[in-house]
Amino acid sequence: MTPHISAKPGDFAETVLMPGDPRRAEWAAKTFLTDARLVTDVRGMLGFTGTHKGKPVSIMGSGMGMPSMSIYANELIREYGAKTLIRIGSCGGMQPEVKVRDIVIAMTASSLSTPSQSFFHGMNFAPSADWSLLNAAAKASVAQGISAHIGGILSSDTFYDEREDHQAALRRHGVLAVEMETAELYTVAARHKARALAILTVSDHLITGEALPASDRERSFGQMVEIALASA
Ligand code: HPA
Repeated sequence: MTPHISAKPGDFAETVLMPGDPRRAEWAAKTFLTDARLVTDVRGMLGFTGTHKGKPVSIMGSGMGMPSMSIYANELIREYGAKTLIRIGSCGGMQPEVKVRDIVIAMTASSLSTPSQSFFHGMNFAPSADWSLLNAAAKASVAQGISAHIGGILSSDTFYDEREDHQAALRRHGVLAVEMETAELYTVAARHKARALAILTVSDHLITGEALPASDRERSFGQMVEIALASA
């Protein structure tokens, strides 16, 4: 047991899918896994383990923001032996061609700061996806007829960002979308020799203001789970 996870040793699979929302973890485990069982529920952060096509897979919430993701990624990798962590979440579109409902696969994740920032003594570490997972997810999305955007994203510490044109320079440099967890997930995974990837659905758009209706969210979420399971 760890301060934030009540599972017993061996309760987690080496592959863990991580939506931000623990209720989404429950839905995905019950919908996509065979014999899914609850392995942890500390603070309501539900984690499940079952099998997919005969292989063990876990699905656990990460919470919102890099500090929360950092806690669960550290404990899953260091205490429970997780080797492949795939975030499945939502993001805000930052480029005109990145439309609401589209899927973004994060090759890199820029940030203003992460919980790991002081590790690098002022150098700018480039948090990046595991290549084998990224390649597999690109192929899995093509196989499912989905044209995913693959490139850089921003991991922000603020959802309600009122700073004027704060993201203009990143947009100019082709950053596709903004979310709040991936830069730290990639950094923690790199530090402990685990593989990580983030697959995201565009739930809202920073330029157009369009937002995905709640009724569409489950379908988009299901697509990400299928790509993640096919990639792992
Ligand atoms: N900002 C930050 N995180 C997000 C957003 C956003 O606009 N949309 C979904 N996750």
